Amino acid sequence: MSLEKRFTLNDLRAARESGAKIPMLTCYDYSTARVMQQAGVPMLLVGDSAASVILGHDSTLPVSLDFMIELTAAVRRGAPLAMVVGDMPFGSYQTSDEQGIANVFHMVQASGCDAVKLEVAMGHGPLVRRVADAGVAVVAHMGLRPQAVGLLGGYRFQGRTADEARELVASSLHFQEQGAAVILLEAVPPEVAKAVVDATSIPVIGCGAGPSCHASVIVTQDAIGLSVRRPRFVPELGDIAGRMREAFEGYVSAVRRGVYPAAGHNYEMPAEQREAFLADPLGKRA
Ligand code: KIV
Repeated sequence: MSLEKRFTLNDLRAARESGAKIPMLTCYDYSTARVMQQAGVPMLLVGDSAASVILGHDSTLPVSLDFMIELTAAVRRGAPLAMVVGDMPFGSYQTSDEQGIANVFHMVQASGCDAVKLEVAMGHGPLVRRVADAGVAVVAHMGLRPQAVGLLGGYRFQGRTADEARELVASSLHFQEQGAAVILLEAVPPEVAKAVVDATSIPVIGCGAGPSCHASVIVTQDAIGLSVRRPRFVPELGDIAGRMREAFEGYVSAVRRGVYPAAGHNYEMPAEQREAFLADPLGKRA
């Protein structure tokens, strides 16, 4: 079940050809990354959704590049065999292409990620081109772009009208031409995702985008009961929050009842040291 060899962009490309479907989960820390690698999850996204599920913000906008780099590096250490995608947060690439490329290099060098994800609008074409020319794999995130929540007017699914859907297909082709290695479509109807898959030749990751995509990503906390709300496209992978609650309740009860700490939990001094210490705990006789 555990990953046995490193999963790479070429494996994702091969999946596009073979029709194999690739699972991807968001991950934000070393310990969970280790478990995910043991479970055979080949692709991990260190998303700026960390702003909500790790820090409790109501949007993805407040997280900094340094914070995202710290998390991405931790996930890299925990899952050295997974393909790790680092997310470029709001404000880290919008000022200018120069700022964007410098920050992408910083993310790649400091975190060891295999690819970077950018939420792209048409004006980001030249930046994607430069990042790709520098040899960095870009995941072009389209559809619902949470960093653009102000402009989109809320977290609503995208590609609602025929015109909007055609625009998404055109954007996908544009970013493929600009050198994006992968497209990520968030919250679009399945027909739109299928049209993007059919029109392009690079792998497409879906996040609430139906079954045609080559890989599927979900926010892990949404699927294991740790988020306040589970979006409709997210499967229930188990009530891990419930299991955690039970475990914490057990600890609270054991400490309150004096059952913990018990003898088996103690560190032991060598017998003669213990006796000497107990005979003169304040060191007055020495
Ligand atoms: O930040 C994130 O986790 C994402 C996914 C929802 C695609 O962008």
